[in-house]
Amino acid sequence: MAQRRVLRFGVIGAGLMGREFASAAMRWCHLDGLDFAPSIVAVCDVNERATRWFEDNVPTVERVTRDYHELLADPSVDAVYCALPHHLHARTYVDAIRAGKHLMGEKPFGIDEVANQQILAMCHENPEVLVRCSSEFPFFPGAYQIAKYVQEGRFGRLIEVEAGFWHSSDLNPDKEINWKRLVKTNGAYGCMGDLGLHVVHLPFRFGWRPRNVRAVLSNIVTERPDGHGGRVACDTWDNALLLCEAEAANGDRFPMTLSMKRIAPGHANTWFLRIIGTRFSVEYSTKNPKQLLTLRYQPGAAQSWEVTDVAHESAYPSITGPIFEFGFSDSILQMWAAFCDEVVNGVEMRQPMRCATPEETAQSHRLFTAALVSHATGETVSLLE
Ligand SMILES: NC(=O)c1ccc[n+]([C@@H]2O[C@H](COP(=O)([O-])OP(=O)(O)OC[C@H]3O[C@@H](n4cnc5c(N)ncnc54)[C@H](O)[C@@H]3O)[C@@H](O)[C@H]2O)c1
Repeated sequence: MAQRRVLRFGVIGAGLMGREFASAAMRWCHLDGLDFAPSIVAVCDVNERATRWFEDNVPTVERVTRDYHELLADPSVDAVYCALPHHLHARTYVDAIRAGKHLMGEKPFGIDEVANQQILAMCHENPEVLVRCSSEFPFFPGAYQIAKYVQEGRFGRLIEVEAGFWHSSDLNPDKEINWKRLVKTNGAYGCMGDLGLHVVHLPFRFGWRPRNVRAVLSNIVTERPDGHGGRVACDTWDNALLLCEAEAANGDRFPMTLSMKRIAPGHANTWFLRIIGTRFSVEYSTKNPKQLLTLRYQPGAAQSWEVTDVAHESAYPSITGPIFEFGFSDSILQMWAAFCDEVVNGVEMRQPMRCATPEETAQSHRLFTAALVSHATGETVSLLE
């Protein structure tokens, strides 16, 4: 077998997403023909149960610590994945980049715009360090195909774009409070900080810039059980609806509706993107992850939506047959392949879908900060520089 480059990773934050990365790293054999691979050699978490899971399940782990500085000081660690509560993003990401570790961070990439700018400043000081933010949905086959359609310029004049990420894990008012439901640890953005980057990543990647935003935010469940028999305030926004006037690189302007909902009855993890153009329209939702809807239009011809079952084909070839379904953990594996590919091959990476960039997170912070102002004032807020 050809020599492959092994990237030695540290994981800071061994919770839900830390474990997802561990699972992806350990099923790397699922990907076909890659000459690079991650190996998780160090793990940090303040919760012993979380690190024990890694010790029990990830045989490559050599170092376990409660203090992330110790992990960053290890010269044998090439890259880190930080999957921490939002109030810890700025300090850990800044320290990781300063330590020269390639960084996959998590959204919202700083609890607020100030924190995000601190991270961006450290990125600019260390251009040799690759810094990216996790965002899986572009790697679903349907979403990946849409990116190709945009690249090919199929749509004609854009009429309207709608993107959203909806779930309903907060519908149950008896669900206990946790850090994701408190402004102190989750941030003032609420559901926008949690779900927003997933929604804006592809529109921003396509060069569609919001010129302004009118936002309506909702706090539907205002208190939750505190886990000790009492109730405590749940002060984060549950749902957000953002109507933007967007502009494409060619100057076309169109309405773009972005929605992020933690309380959308009937939805478990629904990410969708609908692009309506004068010559071509497309719609994709992870609710029906195999189905891609397209509508080709020629003047005077009939208008009919076509439904295609997309093949199991994303950014990197895998051993799975094309007829089999693709899921969330597959998209995570593909995203990690993109990150490792970019660390190893830079601009020569094998395919064009790089992970979300720090600049894209900065754009998202500008939008969400403006959305907070819009909701508070009831006015449309300009995003023009
Ligand atoms: N990309 C996605 O699809 C996706 C999905 C869920 C969450 N996220 C993001 O991932 C990040 C983590 O979310 P999660 O769901 O994994 O949360 P989680 O609560 O499951 O895990 C966070 C872990 O961080 C640990 N931790 C807290 N303080 C620490 C410290 N000072 N040092 C070391 N460890 C510490 C906690 O003990 C916990 O194990 C957040 O930014 C969240 O928005 C992304």
